[in-house]
Amino acid sequence: MSKRNLLVTSALPYANGPIHLGHLVEYIQTDIWVRFQRLRGNSCLYICADDAHGTPIMLRAKQEGITPETLIQRVWDDHKADFDGFHVSFDNYYTTHSDENRELASLIYSRLKEAGHIIRRTISQAYDPEAEMFLPDRFIKGSCPNCGAEDQYGDSCEVCGATYAPTDLVKPVSVISGAQPVEKDSEHYFFKLGDFQDFLKQWTREDGHVQTEIASKLKEWFESGLQDWDISRDAPYWGFEIPDAPGKYFYVWLDAPIGYMASFQNYCDREGVDFQAYWGKESQAELYHFIGKDIAYFHTLFWPAMLEGAGYRTPTAVYCHGFLTVNGKKMSKSRGTFIKASSYLNHLNPEYLRYYFAVKLGSGIDDIDLNLEDFAQRVNSDLVGKVVNIASRCAGFIKKKFNGRLSSSLPDSGMYDDFVRSGEEIARLYEAREFGHAMREIMALADVANQYIDAAKPWVLIKDEASAQEVQDICTQGLNLFRIIMTYLKPVLPVTTAGAEAFLNAGELNWDTRHLPLLDHAIEPFKPLLTRIERETIENMLEESKEHLKETANETPRPDSPLAKDPISNEISFDDFAKLDLRIARIVEAKQVEGADKLLQLTLDLDGETRNVFAGIKSAYDPESLKGRLTVMVANLAPRKMRFGLSEGMVLAAGPGGKDLFILNPDEGAQPGMRVK
Ligand code: MSP
Ligand code: ZN
Repeated sequence: MSKRNLLVTSALPYANGPIHLGHLVEYIQTDIWVRFQRLRGNSCLYICADDAHGTPIMLRAKQEGITPETLIQRVWDDHKADFDGFHVSFDNYYTTHSDENRELASLIYSRLKEAGHIIRRTISQAYDPEAEMFLPDRFIKGSCPNCGAEDQYGDSCEVCGATYAPTDLVKPVSVISGAQPVEKDSEHYFFKLGDFQDFLKQWTREDGHVQTEIASKLKEWFESGLQDWDISRDAPYWGFEIPDAPGKYFYVWLDAPIGYMASFQNYCDREGVDFQAYWGKESQAELYHFIGKDIAYFHTLFWPAMLEGAGYRTPTAVYCHGFLTVNGKKMSKSRGTFIKASSYLNHLNPEYLRYYFAVKLGSGIDDIDLNLEDFAQRVNSDLVGKVVNIASRCAGFIKKKFNGRLSSSLPDSGMYDDFVRSGEEIARLYEAREFGHAMREIMALADVANQYIDAAKPWVLIKDEASAQEVQDICTQGLNLFRIIMTYLKPVLPVTTAGAEAFLNAGELNWDTRHLPLLDHAIEPFKPLLTRIERETIENMLEESKEHLKETANETPRPDSPLAKDPISNEISFDDFAKLDLRIARIVEAKQVEGADKLLQLTLDLDGETRNVFAGIKSAYDPESLKGRLTVMVANLAPRKMRFGLSEGMVLAAGPGGKDLFILNPDEGAQPGMRVK
């Protein structure tokens, strides 16, 4: 078969939270497929990015007191580290907040507009008069109009399942300010999806563009009619301003899928690849989007329509997967099963999860369950007990008795040929995303290999010098079978495979050369490639996930909350407060104090006047990290004679103590000497 050119994407994760194991179903599924394609000799580019726009990101940044740019950069760094940690092999990981994306979004919008697919219409929407912004449904809460349950979102009730408009809520409040929303008119821009009804009906029916389950979902959508899609949002909004409409911004879902193209554009510019060869109308390349079933509407209706309307090629296929549950239930913070990618990596080998997801994944959209008990058992029995075991049973004899050399022929080449032939079916299963089925085929081969060694009993034969050749042959057979199995597992276990490649000492495992056994060849010493999962390790991971919850919970006041432990003091008059002279100070020097285990000695500069202050913050701060920082000090506190010298004031810090002490930081622009009032 001739070489194919593929461009593959996974959905762009939102830049307002960490990657968790649910996300990883998608990135691992895609990465296995991408690595499989590359292993088969195809050119396969894997492109992704952070989805960096929208109201939640804007509000999150505000809440943290940082700019959206700072937030999305920090989250990008975290996401990138998580994906690297799980060996997700993106060719480019970019952001939708980029020049490339701004240009492409404007271009596509203007082409759609020129072709008459954009209309303007005034609509009435919930508006927060205090925060002075329109409210997305998710930012309005109130009592359910159907069952009366309190504290429900503006679009649906989690108690009775009713869906409704935010205006239907009883006693609605803005989540942002607590104010009661009012109705306000505003002009919006709409994409006329209905213009593409015939095109979409045909596109979604032909050539396997979508899975059958999605096709029937689409039928329902077609029957209820394709509505105009609101693609604009009013300021304040975090996104791209619409070129000819000041104060109006592209809705995040307009520029998010265009982010696939923009990330690819960025890759092309760097690597000298022809963008149009992939996205142009005449493209011969294959284009695949892997997504979760929750975002099928965007990818199978809006997206192909936008591409068609703007003169680009449409996807070869959109592949949806189901959602992850843990131990049969929705991931839950309180059960500790809302597991972040980084928490997992603190405890477990990423390839265990890659393998387990592979075992569970098929081409459909069923949800998949991570049963932690089953997870440990699967990995231990399949990967450690079956696959790695083949090599560890054979390697020792070859190394010790035969100077690391394999025999010059296979004792059972028929079995070897069977293993080679199985590769055709396994390749078909990988291609069809039937990974679970593929893993079962591979493990069946591992069983055959182990049974062969069990029956041949090299550990018995080795006791008799006369059987030496036979032992070498058996182990040569075993290691060659192992080599084929590792080739088949390479898309799933890239690092373990690299270990096997080093051990086999014959270059990279390759699908096309697997029919050539390693004979009369020297191998390297065997090192354990994978170890068993211990129950305790999993418990530690769950424990850590619960801990994170404690750190991040902000929903309900806890009994150990700062306020509960240390209630607000008695009221004081303004005059009482005015006696305090608080000043901005620059920490110009910070050092350890000999003989003091809690104190740091700080030299504070107040616009030319300096103060010597001993601060009890040694447990939380490295003096080097303090130098040059601005903070707040009590400047008119009576000086106090201490064992180490005179303390001329006090710096302010919050927190219970130990590592948890936090000194204050003024906002940008404050100058040393300024009064805080
Ligand atoms: N930003 C949008 C996608 C824009 S694509 C142009 C988004 N982001 S997300 O962070 O919420 O989700 C990213 C992907 O992860 C989606 O495909 C989503 O379906 C998938 N998953 C998120 N949680 C998941 C599970 N619990 N289980 C399986 N997949 C999950 O949607
Ligand atoms: Zn209800």
